[in-house]
Amino acid sequence: MNIRKSGALVFFGATGDLAYKKVFPALHAMVKRGNLNIPVIGIARSAPDLAALKDRARKSIEEHGGIDAAAFEKLAGMMRYVRGDYADTSTYQALQKELSNANCHSPAFYLAIPPAAFGTVVEQLARTDCTRGARVIIEKPFGRDLKSAGALNRILLKAFAENAIFRIDHYLGKQPVHSMVFLRFANEMLEPFWNRSHVESFQITMAEKFGVQGRGAFYEQVGTVRDVIQNHLFQILTNLTMEPPIRTDSESIRDEKVKVLKAIPPIEEQNIVRGQFRGYRNEPGVAPDSDVETFAALRLEIDSWRWRGVPFYIRAGKCLPVTSTEILIRLRQPPTMYRLYDLHSNYVRFRISPDIALALGLNVVSPVNDSETDMSEVLASRHPYPGERDAYERVLGDAMAGDATLFAREDYVEEAWRIVDRILKVSTHVYEYEPNTWGPTAAEMMMPPGGWSNPVVADSSIPHGH
Ligand code: BG6
Repeated sequence: MNIRKSGALVFFGATGDLAYKKVFPALHAMVKRGNLNIPVIGIARSAPDLAALKDRARKSIEEHGGIDAAAFEKLAGMMRYVRGDYADTSTYQALQKELSNANCHSPAFYLAIPPAAFGTVVEQLARTDCTRGARVIIEKPFGRDLKSAGALNRILLKAFAENAIFRIDHYLGKQPVHSMVFLRFANEMLEPFWNRSHVESFQITMAEKFGVQGRGAFYEQVGTVRDVIQNHLFQILTNLTMEPPIRTDSESIRDEKVKVLKAIPPIEEQNIVRGQFRGYRNEPGVAPDSDVETFAALRLEIDSWRWRGVPFYIRAGKCLPVTSTEILIRLRQPPTMYRLYDLHSNYVRFRISPDIALALGLNVVSPVNDSETDMSEVLASRHPYPGERDAYERVLGDAMAGDATLFAREDYVEEAWRIVDRILKVSTHVYEYEPNTWGPTAAEMMMPPGGWSNPVVADSSIPHGH
């Protein structure tokens, strides 16, 4: 395992949107916690100089979580800036100079840039001999289908060894997502019913109340399946369905996750419903006749000993009634003598956001009428703690420390694309839906009795400051 700590963070896209919203606040939080003390070299074109970059970093941190004067001063002291074009060899020569001035070995190159520029940057880094002892951290979307992901992997693997490549999926950095594996395998309670004999169906819903938020041009290139299903929601799926890893090292865990994907047949077009919210076509950067989906609901199966025959329903969408990510696992009906009662399926409900919850749904006798039943939830829930590590702080910290557990391996990424490749190529009808609804009615029709469980977000579910 490659566990040497990176000696510098070289950060392409330092003036971009992602840097502003996520990366500077994460770096600031790492400094505040005492976890970052290496040169941070920003690379971009639009900031005229280092002072301007520091100014942008300050504003970004003020807007996203607030600034700690001492931590910011330290971070600003670590910052360097190389201004240049990603296609230009002189940019990389200037970078090498910065690295050697700061006496840095083993840098981590973080590519917070549009995917179209990944290849150019990696090839330039290799050509200018910057890759020795280095790591590369790469943002999603990792390719746009099976073929392009394969081509990108080949470019990366020419310059870096697989154990030096960290493909980010920030969902894995979210505490309730990465801790699912611990929850499943550090407890005895879930395992006896976690299989086809007891589980009737799985649902994963990622709902967002907002639209494309000015990212219309980006969204036109991706759509919901590429944007969040092939990556974020498949990561949740594999965490919840994999077999117990033999050890806790990154490869043992990632091996099990790949096995789940290998057992999923490609999704057929009759098992996806696409939708587009009314008004999407008027967004800046969106074609007036766009048929890109802003909502998708799909059904898949895991053809394994544990899961064969259990349907998995996954949906995600923009402009839905709430912002929440939730999983619902419905259990089969018990072989009960209480047949005259109106019994519901028991369920396990995991909520990832906005609050974090684990709930068990049970049939109980109604307290007011002995001949009736109620559904009662045993609920453990909490808000994210104020000092809790945010997803980006966790994944960037892990990548710089060389821990690959929370990153997508080459074979995982390609398997995930294989599953959706067909539905990305075949055009299916895109139904229009009204904003603030749960998407097209066709998505309801694909469900068995019981239907989708829509996450309910009360005001008290929303953590302060969100
Ligand atoms: C990003 C997608 O990867 O994840 C966005 O591009 C989406 O469209 C976002 O809104 C959701 O992430 P989070 O952390 O805000 O739930």
